[in-house]
Amino acid sequence: MTHPVDQNPTAPAPASHTSTRPGAGVVPQFADPDPSRPRRRYAVAGTGHRAGMYVAALTGEHADVGEIVAWLDPNPARIDYHDTQVGAALGLDGPAGLPRYGPEGLEAMVGEQRADTVIVTSVDRTHAELVDRALRAGADVVVEKPLTTDADGCRRITQAVADTGRDVVMTFNYRYAPRNSTLRQVIASGAIGEVTSVHFEWALDTVHGADYFRRWHRDKANSGGLLVHKASHHFDLVNWWIDDAPAKVYASGALRFYGEENSAARGMRERPERGTGAHGDPYSLDLRADPRLDALYLRAERHDGYRRDQDPFAPGITIEDNMSVLVDYRRGATLTYSLNAHSPWEGYRVTVNGTAGRAELQVVERGFIELDDDGNAVLDPSATPLGAHDPLRPEGDHLILQRHWQRPEEVAIPDGIGGHGGGDAILLKDVFRRDLRIGDDPLGRAADYRDGLRAVAVGIAANRSLLTGQPVVVEQLGLLHEDGPQ
Ligand SMILES: NC(=O)c1ccc[n+]([C@@H]2O[C@H](COP(=O)([O-])OP(=O)(O)OC[C@H]3O[C@@H](n4cnc5c(N)ncnc54)[C@H](O)[C@@H]3O)[C@@H](O)[C@H]2O)c1
Repeated sequence: MTHPVDQNPTAPAPASHTSTRPGAGVVPQFADPDPSRPRRRYAVAGTGHRAGMYVAALTGEHADVGEIVAWLDPNPARIDYHDTQVGAALGLDGPAGLPRYGPEGLEAMVGEQRADTVIVTSVDRTHAELVDRALRAGADVVVEKPLTTDADGCRRITQAVADTGRDVVMTFNYRYAPRNSTLRQVIASGAIGEVTSVHFEWALDTVHGADYFRRWHRDKANSGGLLVHKASHHFDLVNWWIDDAPAKVYASGALRFYGEENSAARGMRERPERGTGAHGDPYSLDLRADPRLDALYLRAERHDGYRRDQDPFAPGITIEDNMSVLVDYRRGATLTYSLNAHSPWEGYRVTVNGTAGRAELQVVERGFIELDDDGNAVLDPSATPLGAHDPLRPEGDHLILQRHWQRPEEVAIPDGIGGHGGGDAILLKDVFRRDLRIGDDPLGRAADYRDGLRAVAVGIAANRSLLTGQPVVVEQLGLLHEDGPQ
């Protein structure tokens, strides 16, 4: 597989990933650091897949401004993996041997290792506790999405920020993808007038979408379901695009494709117990096929029993795979949103209606999934004779602006750098060098915990709506910053 360290191997690898010549205005400008200034000390809490992006950044491009000083994870094998990566990056013969802690040792870690910042890249369910404890132990926090999974987590983080006055950076990388920032520019320019409504459809395919049903995400208690775990990216984009906050949410959805009952109802034959070792099954992921998956998960199983390659049709799934959400915004716009996790292609479509016209963004991240001769899904189609492209659904992005009484016009989307549609590498600059930034970002891409709250507020309200069948007034959940700590 050719996926870089910041990319889930089941996710499409966008073409913009390889660009080394980003468009003007996409990458912010930063001053050089003062060489006499001590490097910022980072501890990483949660040493799984996503941690790799931060480890690579702090041992590579951003090693001049920051360093990793400690690990925290309940699983020693996953710490071993990253410690070895750091050792290699430092040119050592073996692992770096950085101090390591279990979750109970967070306060000791911050104190003993003089950590300035804790990077939280753990299972979603643990974010609120780790953020709260890190702030109270005297560190700032960089936290991955979703900020947290439930209303209690929102209140806990809000209270900890209020009590400590410390800093929480929310890493919303999708904002930094040039196609998404360009849509923000179009809306902010007034070209479509006042936004009246947004229509947003996101499709996850049967390789990447299925992955949420293989991993810990399949249990709503761990992830908040895809309405929190995945859609918090999307709800953040809408909040940011239209510069507004959600007021009322209604949701409908269910598990209709993955899971034991659905597969039985469709007469699927007996399923392999796990992906590793299964052959000729496109829904299976063999952890041995990728050295990183093998080291991070297969060889780590003996410590905690966690299997990353569960069958997406096995019992125990408590999240939805088809979700529809209706959101009323405070200033009057409406969002209609849908998320499907078993699509034959992956990408999204957004329409923003305004009083002067509409903007439409269409993105194909993976046009189709190829099967090899044995029936296994091919994760890297660029390595096959057929290639990654289908003429009817070519990978790429298009932004169309059409003003009332005018013809449509295509708005150019500049190239980005790094994964997630060109967003990750730019995000990392903003995270690690933000005090060196020259000038403000006209796009306002940097996010803090208040943006994190507004994003998860939609998913948390949607989850409540799924349970009650009723619309949910977000203010009544008492979880937004402006609603105050409860
Ligand atoms: N922004 C993005 O595009 C993006 C992409 C991938 C993942 N993420 C986020 O990163 C986070 C991690 O995801 P991942 O894919 O790396 O998952 P993962 O399963 O690979 O890693 C999670 C790690 O958390 C550890 N952990 C469990 N309980 C813990 C605790 N109490 N304290 C500390 N660590 C604990 C696990 O042992 C594991 O090592 C998630 O919140 C996810 O939403 C974001």
